Amino acid sequence: MSRRILLAVILVAFSVSTHAHDSKTKLEQANDYRHGLYGAIAWNFGPLNAMAQGKIPFDKAEASIRAARLAALTEMLTEAFPEGSAIHGKSEAKAAIWEHRAEFDAVLKKFITKSAALSEGAKTADLEKFKPLVSDTRAVCKECHDKYKED
Ligand code: HEC
Repeated sequence: MSRRILLAVILVAFSVSTHAHDSKTKLEQANDYRHGLYGAIAWNFGPLNAMAQGKIPFDKAEASIRAARLAALTEMLTEAFPEGSAIHGKSEAKAAIWEHRAEFDAVLKKFITKSAALSEGAKTADLEKFKPLVSDTRAVCKECHDKYKED
């Protein structure tokens, strides 16, 4: 067997064995990962929002934990938008994300910054200071969804 053919055989064997472990492509996994992150983001942001709107009592300990989680999760989004990961029928991500990547990344960066500020603020702030930090974050959810998510 020539070296070139041997190398080809090894590469094919390798890709078959990695596929056997995982039937989803990397891009499908990225799509799942992104949905998982947004699910966790919404889960943790919900009570923060409810506290800010007076629907449930403000609890600083709970707010700190949820805001710290939110800040960690938003950072993870930087890996969650590889090109081609808007899997047809399973994603509401608009093509505009990849057509205007720099603009999208700027909104994502703002989200990370606002979430970090909310996380810092939640540890120390009273309710009146906490409220605008939550609404700043909520505004970025809306801005990004308006531009980059199908309704
Ligand atoms: C930087 C852009 C951006 C920001 C900021 C953002 N989102 Fe999203 N969100 C998206 C996109 C794009 C999708 C669609 C993802 C997909 O379907 O592949 C999405 C989807 C979702 C989903 C649906 C997940 C699913 O499984 O279908 C929820 C819930 C959600 N976002 C909540 C939030 C909340 C709450 C915030 C703010 C705290 C927020 N998002 C901030 C871009 C953003």
